[in-house]
Amino acid sequence: MSKDKVQIFDTTLRDGEQVPGCKLDTTQKLVIAERLEALGVDIIEAGFPISSPGDFKSVDAIAKLVKNATVCGLTRAVEKDIEVAAEALKHAKRPRIHTGIGTSESHIKYKFNTTQDVIIERAVKAVKYAKSFVEDVEFFAEDAGRTDNEYLARVCEAVIKAGATVLNIPDTTGYCLPEEYGAKIKFLKENVTGIDKAILSCHCHNDLGMATANSIAGVIQGARQIECTINGIGERAGNTSLEEVVMILKQHPYLDLDTSINTRLLYSTSQMVSQKMGMPVQPNKAIVGSNAFAHSSGIHQDGVIKQRETYEIMAPEEVGVDQSSIILTARSGRAALAYRAKNVGYELTKVQLDSVYQEFLKFADVKKEILDTDIHQIVEASNIQIESVV
Ligand code: KIV
Ligand code: ZN
Repeated sequence: MSKDKVQIFDTTLRDGEQVPGCKLDTTQKLVIAERLEALGVDIIEAGFPISSPGDFKSVDAIAKLVKNATVCGLTRAVEKDIEVAAEALKHAKRPRIHTGIGTSESHIKYKFNTTQDVIIERAVKAVKYAKSFVEDVEFFAEDAGRTDNEYLARVCEAVIKAGATVLNIPDTTGYCLPEEYGAKIKFLKENVTGIDKAILSCHCHNDLGMATANSIAGVIQGARQIECTINGIGERAGNTSLEEVVMILKQHPYLDLDTSINTRLLYSTSQMVSQKMGMPVQPNKAIVGSNAFAHSSGIHQDGVIKQRETYEIMAPEEVGVDQSSIILTARSGRAALAYRAKNVGYELTKVQLDSVYQEFLKFADVKKEILDTDIHQIVEASNIQIESVV
């Protein structure tokens, strides 16, 4: 039986670009959009067209460039925003307008100083207006994570009737627990009349480090779109990381959920976005960090050298990383040293390895990491007779 498809909605160029200091120009955005399409994302959120003339220009240029993916533009539930987004998207093969409004008690009270009923009226009006320009209209209920479920269900029902094709349930402040977020999606699935006419979408922020877990909890409960960014970049602590959710679904086949992402392009895409945005990837970042496939403790190294799967749950090549690495530090053991020494030409006997290892420990205690060039020096300093250099 074929797996259910989870649509990947990439918002690197919109929510991701909201990171302070990461602003991109149109040329950079076009290069990233082209790469996102090659990666296989289903939807590219290209920007927020009314926010600036530069963003309008970028959305317009991306709409002209992209061939297969849906191109989406963000708006508030404001007529002028929607008109400008429709104009920016007019050349897109598959245009989508993403409109919405805050639905939590605090947004309704402090941002809008209004009532729940008025918010529903504004939401419906915005969706109907967007629908007069494009067929594909996504509605976001901002701060849905902290919105009462009964009220959220009323909002969803009203916007589906108005024509919304996708319902975005953002955990805007990254507050929810995975169980709570999953239960919210389940509640909407079970209590919103007409829910089968729309796709539920997870849009989770990472303020408590739970964006990925929440998105996965959402799709387990029936959402079929995840909104995410490359490297998890985004407002404050960031958004759900694309590479994480994609690999979770791939590595857990019993979930019966799949994406169209070419996972072998994940690492190079991560590097490209990091470089264009001037935003380094933390070394311990899951999937794409420089240490994601690096082994440095002796016990792990011994296991990986014998059988990679002992300490790796996926092959590095699957995400476009050349190979796992065995890092030499003072915590490394003989197996790792023998392996790395062999890579640079020394086939050491057991006795030789014992001597070289003692010398290695002296070096490693003063140097954080032993490089290939250091290995030659260590072998020389250990005064062993090397008969054959392989
Ligand atoms: O986090 C959020 O609520 C958003 C919406 C604008 C979709 O980014
Ligand atoms: Zn967001």
